[in-house]
Amino acid sequence: MFPCKVGSAWEVVAPAKLNLYLDVLGGRPDGFHELETLMLPVRIYDSLRWTAASPEENGVAPALRIRNLLSGADAPQPDLGPGNLVLRAAESLARAAGIAPCGTFELIKRIPIQAGMGGGSSDAAAALLLANAAWGIGYSYERLASLAGELGSDIPFFLQSSAAICRGRGEQVEPVAGLPLLHFVVVKPPVGLSTAEVFSRWRRSSDQPATLRRETERIETGDRPLSKLIASLRHGALAESGIWMQNALESAAAELSPWINRLRQVFAECGCYAHGMTGSGSATFGVMRSARQARRTAQLLATRRLGTVLVTASC
Ligand code: C5P
Repeated sequence: MFPCKVGSAWEVVAPAKLNLYLDVLGGRPDGFHELETLMLPVRIYDSLRWTAASPEENGVAPALRIRNLLSGADAPQPDLGPGNLVLRAAESLARAAGIAPCGTFELIKRIPIQAGMGGGSSDAAAALLLANAAWGIGYSYERLASLAGELGSDIPFFLQSSAAICRGRGEQVEPVAGLPLLHFVVVKPPVGLSTAEVFSRWRRSSDQPATLRRETERIETGDRPLSKLIASLRHGALAESGIWMQNALESAAAELSPWINRLRQVFAECGCYAHGMTGSGSATFGVMRSARQARRTAQLLATRRLGTVLVTASC
């Protein structure tokens, strides 16, 4: 993510993400869960713009305007109030730097909400970078990453915006190089899912056969599905990579919404290399064989009343 100056304004685009792999290693004393996940930024973008306050607005707290380009009357709406992560991020940066926050943020929303695509987190990372530049603060990546981690688990990933393995709550980011360009179709059903609710549904129990199987596999063979996934992606063995893609939150999400199993079935039948739910859902993606197959599949799926159908690729 690179903020750029346009006249007296500052602008940045904020990508969405997909999780190609997500394992929940256990609950933590702080109420969060310990994760190991492979996240990939993809070419679906919100845009954030900051403009200076007019003389009569000087000294007034920053304002946020949102232009929502998300379709569907039932789609969850962005939070317009002070709880919005853009304003919270800007305010936390101003507090840390000991300055008064100012100006107007204008957010254009294209990333589906409650989809597991990280839209709110990406907007927050964008706000940190934009305000850091616009207000002349000049904090380092490390300093911003520490503020980002306090604001939300996925926000540090978006600050650096390259493919990465994220651990801990998600805030420990290890960039992964050498992955090929991947083409995706993403379907966001009409109903979204709350991250907190999906995590609280997740149980480390016998109804989590995939997780248990993977743990047994690891202990017995020292095998690491995530390493296998990254190695197969780097070799361009995309069909094989599907064997190693998994999301430990998928069954918890499926208990909350019938859309998860429905979309799993839809993608199983559409001839993609691999498919899975992203993050805590409710969006599901297929890894397609080419940009052309992605476009054709999206055209077919768009006729089936499944919700929002998007074609995208890794950044
Ligand atoms: O960190 P973030 O605000 O994005 O998390 C939203 C909610 O998701 C948390 O309040 C928590 O309930 C859950 N969560 C979790 N473990 C994580 C990340 C999120 O339990 N590693």
